[in-house]
Amino acid sequence: MSNTKPKLRSRAWFDNPDNIDMTALYLERYLNFGLSLEELQSGKPIIGIAQTGSDLSPCNRHHLVLAERVREGIREAGGIAIEFPVHPIQETGKRPTAGLDRNLAYLGLVETLYGYPLDGVVLTIGCDKTTPACLMAAATVNIPAIALSVGPMLNGWHKGDRTGSGTIVWKARELLAAGEIDDAEFIRLVASSAPSTGYCNTMGTATTMNSLAEALGMSLPGSAAIPAPYRDRQEVAWRTGKRIVAMVADDLKPSDILTEDAFRNAIAVNSAIGGSTNAPIHITAIARHIGVDLPLQTWQSHGLDIPLLVNLQPAGEYLGEDFYRAGGVPAVVGQLIGQGLIAEGAMTVNGKTIGENCRGVAIEDEKVIRPFDAPLMAAAGFVVFSGNLFDSAIMKTSVISPEFRERYLSDPADPDAFEGPVVVFDGPEDYHARIDDPATGITDRTLLVMRGAGPIGYPGAAEVVNMRAPAHLILDGVHALPCIGDGRQSGTSGSPSILNAAPEAAAGGALAVLETGDRVRIDLRRGSADVLIDAETLAARQAALAAKGGYRFPASQTPWQEIQRAVVGQLGNGAILEGAEAYQRIAQT
Ligand code: FES
Ligand code: MG
Repeated sequence: MSNTKPKLRSRAWFDNPDNIDMTALYLERYLNFGLSLEELQSGKPIIGIAQTGSDLSPCNRHHLVLAERVREGIREAGGIAIEFPVHPIQETGKRPTAGLDRNLAYLGLVETLYGYPLDGVVLTIGCDKTTPACLMAAATVNIPAIALSVGPMLNGWHKGDRTGSGTIVWKARELLAAGEIDDAEFIRLVASSAPSTGYCNTMGTATTMNSLAEALGMSLPGSAAIPAPYRDRQEVAWRTGKRIVAMVADDLKPSDILTEDAFRNAIAVNSAIGGSTNAPIHITAIARHIGVDLPLQTWQSHGLDIPLLVNLQPAGEYLGEDFYRAGGVPAVVGQLIGQGLIAEGAMTVNGKTIGENCRGVAIEDEKVIRPFDAPLMAAAGFVVFSGNLFDSAIMKTSVISPEFRERYLSDPADPDAFEGPVVVFDGPEDYHARIDDPATGITDRTLLVMRGAGPIGYPGAAEVVNMRAPAHLILDGVHALPCIGDGRQSGTSGSPSILNAAPEAAAGGALAVLETGDRVRIDLRRGSADVLIDAETLAARQAALAAKGGYRFPASQTPWQEIQRAVVGQLGNGAILEGAEAYQRIAQT
């Protein structure tokens, strides 16, 4: 923030006495849909509305409606709104992965924010990757920016029970595999979880990332959890529009908000809400684009010991509407502030610190948001893993049940170490083809491994590491087998998995030479996962694979897959386009 009123960027287009030629050209064409010369040369800030909603992006589609209220807010506060599309990212609809499109939407939005006459922007966030894509772009360009969540869907219901989007799919798959429901009931059950417009009503990646956008200070306090169809959502859209105009006047930019303290606050909140294992990827990506050093280990040092307070599916019972009524993100932050776990001085978009916004905010329903001293679970954060199979990976160790511990325990004297033989799958197609095949020899002691699912191997990284157990084990009551993989896991799944392993098999990682039947040892206390073969054998296997041309993965199907594969980094580093990090705060240069 600076005290002198900044010169608006848009003046360089519309009111530039040094370049009257270009000013005339720019003005001439922006007039053609009805804006007036008077408005464009009024000195009023031009505010972009980065529209992520469309018929292709149903989770964010309600932003088409909300944008009207945003416009009214902008106009009322003295700005001029210009709405434009962002490349669609629909988590459930995009093949091969929505992950592929996060960096593409980022690139497109950077070009738009940098190359057009925008003084500030409202980022319309929601479905999983729309949130990081928008925040990453705002970080790179660094013009005043405020995020508006589209809000979760209403709660889903089926025969009197809450059915959460995403989470019900994992449950329904097990019921179908066990022969307890037929195909029609499967579809009905899944459809019941999505009763309205909005994003997933569970604590999946969408609720996680929208909550973390608020925890980072990038959206108005209390706004993330408001369900999409509620009237309050319309109201906060209007407030968001009003606020961005003031932010432009104050020159309050992403770099003023996205500080190291803000990222640490987001990590703490992620543990307390039971946030998705996709959060470290996206938060790392945002941090790298704003230029904040945030080692992956911070997730363990700042997040592991924080308890789970929010009782939402998949870890708990409730859904998005309940979270909102219980107080949403400010109530959670209020609990953490009470324990000194939040850097209270971190600035937020409303011009106040997170401490000023959230200190003393009460929980409205303690069944849904637990007080800090009566949590759902202790130490709910992530452990950061490494070993001879990969340099980094993460695991939510709080989902490990006592029954699971017993099954895989290798040495009663060391209750944090587990061991078992692996069955290896190469990508999701291989897994789907073989999981129920008795020839794979999967037992209740097996560790399932998924490779070829990282940002290069399965372009964008597939959310497939959370593999269900084979049908015969489910019938025996074994629902979850531990999984290890170089891909991601859906935030709506609660299976015990070591995820985001980097480097991935396709980038030369040792997972590429793991063989079915090898034994892997996982040590929760040390944060290690190792295949129990000696270093020489492992090196010999690596050399043999290299001689054959390396790990094989499917060819690119589109130009963007090819381009992204050439420049994308690994999940542990946020899987950003590596060269893009060199471009920071570019609107100021
Ligand atoms: Fe879009 Fe879950 S699929 S938010
Ligand atoms: Mg997802």
